[in-house]
Amino acid sequence: MSRVSTKKYHPFHVTLHWLVALLVVAAFVVGKTMSGLPNDADKLAPLGLHMSIGIFTLVVIIVRIGTRMKLPKPKPATTGSPLLDWIGRVVHYALYLFVILMAVSGTSLAMQAGLVPIVFGGSEMALPADFYDFAARMLHGFIVPVLLLLLLLHVGAAFFHQFALKDNLLARMWYGKHKEME
Ligand code: HEM
Repeated sequence: MSRVSTKKYHPFHVTLHWLVALLVVAAFVVGKTMSGLPNDADKLAPLGLHMSIGIFTLVVIIVRIGTRMKLPKPKPATTGSPLLDWIGRVVHYALYLFVILMAVSGTSLAMQAGLVPIVFGGSEMALPADFYDFAARMLHGFIVPVLLLLLLLHVGAAFFHQFALKDNLLARMWYGKHKEME
């Protein structure tokens, strides 16, 4: 592993962070919008978009986890409170876990409901009448509020650092050149 300590995350890591954030928000908005639609042919396009964004999110987050240990990164941020710092670490790991669970449960639902040939293969078969006939649909829906709560805590913590502690933490997750040797 590199012995270089940085003030900021590596630009590749920064890119993946904001890409995952954008993809999760997009998957959430499209998912919520389409879940209210009847399961007819008009739903194929939003469903295909949602599934594609969700799978891409899974790929990007796996690449992010895979490269996390290899790239130089700044020392863990601190609030001055060991308890808050611990909560921050737990929320970070939980975020990774629940984004992965969201995408894996969605993929399981797609498999159980045979969606791939219908949505991407032009099979012209009808969509299942009700996705709730499949266990993975329940799981996919249950994870949504947990993920939303984790996102709120994560964004809240970032704002707390930025505006209450005024330590300019957000700059670490943006592009720049500052580097120091340990
Ligand atoms: C991080 C990734 C994902 C997020 C944030 C996400 C989010 C959502 C949300 C918010 C809903 C609506 C839930 C509700 O209203 O109860 C939903 C439904 C759904 N998602 Fe995902 N999803 C993701 C990944 C996936 C993937 C990878 C697939 C399939 C390959 C998928 C397939 C579905 C399906 C089939 C539904 C059901 C729509 C319906 O009930 O009409 N999702 N998703």
